[in-house]
Amino acid sequence: MTRFGVWLVGARGSVATTVITGAAAVRAGLAAPVGCVTELPEFRAAGLPTLDTMVVGGHDVSTIPLVKRAEQLVNAGVLPPRLLEHVRAELAAVDSEIRPGTEGLPDTGSQADIAAGLARDMVAFRTRHQLERVVVVNLASTEARATSQLSSDSLVDFEDRLADRAAAVPASVLYAYAAMLAGCSYANFTPSTAMELPALDELARSRALPYAGNDGKTGETLVKTALAPMFAHRALLVRSWSGTNILGGGDGATLAEPDVAASKLSSKARSLEHILGHVPEGETHIDHVPEMGEWKTAWNHISFEGFLGVRMTMQFTWQGCDSALAAPLVLDLARLLARAHEAGRRGAQAELGFFFKDPVGAADHRMVSQYETLREWAASLSLPT
Ligand SMILES: NC(=O)c1ccc[n+]([C@@H]2O[C@H](COP(=O)([O-])OP(=O)(O)OC[C@H]3O[C@@H](n4cnc5c(N)ncnc54)[C@H](O)[C@@H]3O)[C@@H](O)[C@H]2O)c1
Repeated sequence: MTRFGVWLVGARGSVATTVITGAAAVRAGLAAPVGCVTELPEFRAAGLPTLDTMVVGGHDVSTIPLVKRAEQLVNAGVLPPRLLEHVRAELAAVDSEIRPGTEGLPDTGSQADIAAGLARDMVAFRTRHQLERVVVVNLASTEARATSQLSSDSLVDFEDRLADRAAAVPASVLYAYAAMLAGCSYANFTPSTAMELPALDELARSRALPYAGNDGKTGETLVKTALAPMFAHRALLVRSWSGTNILGGGDGATLAEPDVAASKLSSKARSLEHILGHVPEGETHIDHVPEMGEWKTAWNHISFEGFLGVRMTMQFTWQGCDSALAAPLVLDLARLLARAHEAGRRGAQAELGFFFKDPVGAADHRMVSQYETLREWAASLSLPT
């Protein structure tokens, strides 16, 4: 039986721990794959690899064992306690496949050396488990956005920069580059820079590797991109759209940093402008409230104008468990990218935009229309090229 690998960057985080525990539970028949889009009947013909054939490894800078992280998620109410007892051995096995990650800056050598070391870990994982192919998924803490200097680098300039000991390319970019060097497809589930550089796009296309991103669409933006087309299609004029998010967990703590929150907010901001054709008044805020634990509340207030200028409002409140919303999508992305790689797709896969707040290579943010695009693309994977 051929097997494929998933290499999680940030493998001991809340989302990654939920992915690993959830996949083990579904495989053992202890849980249904609720929330996995690729389990819908429309995706049956796409020839996607099954979760039974998936092997997981990854990088993390944290040394807290996965079993401990899973216990923390049980205490937080994210994972059911009975599941943990059944998947403890599997978590320990995945833990032994997690290698020390990097913050990006070298103690000795250059960033090129760091990237080469990360790529060696990925290749060794593929070889050790005799995997057909490996999908790297970035689930590490969100970074502040990189400087624009990098966006004008050709591949040669970029590699020169990495070899220069004074360079400071963000860690997400080093992992993405390492994935390309190792011949892996790649998904960026975070708003960090990662693959979003012309040099890395060039590398992906030249090595026939598909990639997708950025920033998983799991909560407030998911609702916004389902709702905003309603206003647009009914020719109602949205005058303001304001949002407040309160969240705890590791992600909440990271986003308490203003530079990092700016990265998330800019990724959230793009969808309304694209769907409505203008930028309504109002802002989105993210506040860290540790008491919320792994839960997030998003409250949105929308004011709009109807016939003869009549003013109306709508409000919604979303209360989500972020890791439970994100984990099945990570499994979807792993299966879809493994299949896309096998089918010879290369470069940015705009059709995977359905999964992201800030879809790479796609201008369409409308959730339902993104779903149709995804469905057609998945069906095309089973056609001869
Ligand atoms: N949960 C969601 O619904 C959702 C949606 C969209 C995006 N995201 C993004 O997914 C990411 C993970 O979210 P989470 O809730 O699991 O966060 P988390 O804080 O629980 O986990 C992040 C993990 O990344 C690790 N890490 C940090 N820097 C690293 C590095 N340089 N190399 C390797 N590992 C590193 C941390 O040690 C930690 O284990 C975040 O960037 C978040 O913004 C999550």
